[in-house]
Amino acid sequence: MQILKLGGSVLTDKNRPQTANPEAIRLLAQMLGRVWKSGVHDIILVHGAGSFGHALVLEHNIDNGVRTDGQKLAAAKTHAACAKLTSLLVEALLAEGVPAISLPPALLITQTNKRIVKFDEKKVLACLSMGYLPILRGDMVPDTALGMSVCSGDQIVARLGKKAERIVLGTNVDGVMAEGKVVPLITSQNFAKYEKHLSISSSPDVTGGMAGKIKELLAGKVSAYVANAHHPERLEALLQGKKALCTQIEW
Ligand SMILES: Nc1ncnc2c1ncn2[C@@H]1O[C@H](COP(=O)(O)OP(=O)(O)OP(=O)(O)O)[C@@H](O)[C@H]1O
Ligand SMILES: [Mg+2]
Repeated sequence: MQILKLGGSVLTDKNRPQTANPEAIRLLAQMLGRVWKSGVHDIILVHGAGSFGHALVLEHNIDNGVRTDGQKLAAAKTHAACAKLTSLLVEALLAEGVPAISLPPALLITQTNKRIVKFDEKKVLACLSMGYLPILRGDMVPDTALGMSVCSGDQIVARLGKKAERIVLGTNVDGVMAEGKVVPLITSQNFAKYEKHLSISSSPDVTGGMAGKIKELLAGKVSAYVANAHHPERLEALLQGKKALCTQIEW
């Protein structure tokens, strides 16, 4: 099983509220169409929320608890916006002949204080073994302490990734950058050395941007490739077991 995350930084314009990037979505769907036609059917797709999520969470201040009626409405609006982005991706994948099925994280995941405590992973694996391409996303999910809370696509990847042979994280940069260069390999041993180069993100990101991504992977004890999804051919190569420009995160 492989996990591919498509970052909200590529699927959307993160600096414009609820604005998709249809061209990037189309090119990535075409890439997945090629991969699917080549016989690779073992992919679980997770996508980030981009401007369909982060900005709404910040605007309505629902990152630390959803209790009032106003906050509940904001959480529901955020959930609806994230679902809209999934629909755009599903439609693009169907057009390329990929049988994509969206599995709403709010039905499968429960968090406590923003961390996953329950995840009905069996439903995802069942969907995969029936020959579909399951899609999950970063979204608002029920939280036993906070009412609802944000579950990042990165946390979902790190959790599901424990069972994966390969994890590919597509984002809007060539990999983890340090002094203008792509860092080829980050391990739990050398991470401290690179941490100072990691900031959250140049655009609104409530789940820690690049730093959050790496920390989730290392905390989940999973290995992954971080590559630029504006170059779908790089993701394609990695999904086919070939090399491409990226940062390898090795737990
Ligand atoms: N050292 C670094 N190397 C690479 N990117 C970095 C670094 N430090 C900070 N970043 C930021 O991290 C961003 C990528 O993380 P971000 O969470 O914004 O994207 P994403 O995960 O693709 O989007 P989403 O969270 O919506 O899915 C880059 O656009 C960059 O601004
Ligand atoms: Mg992010």
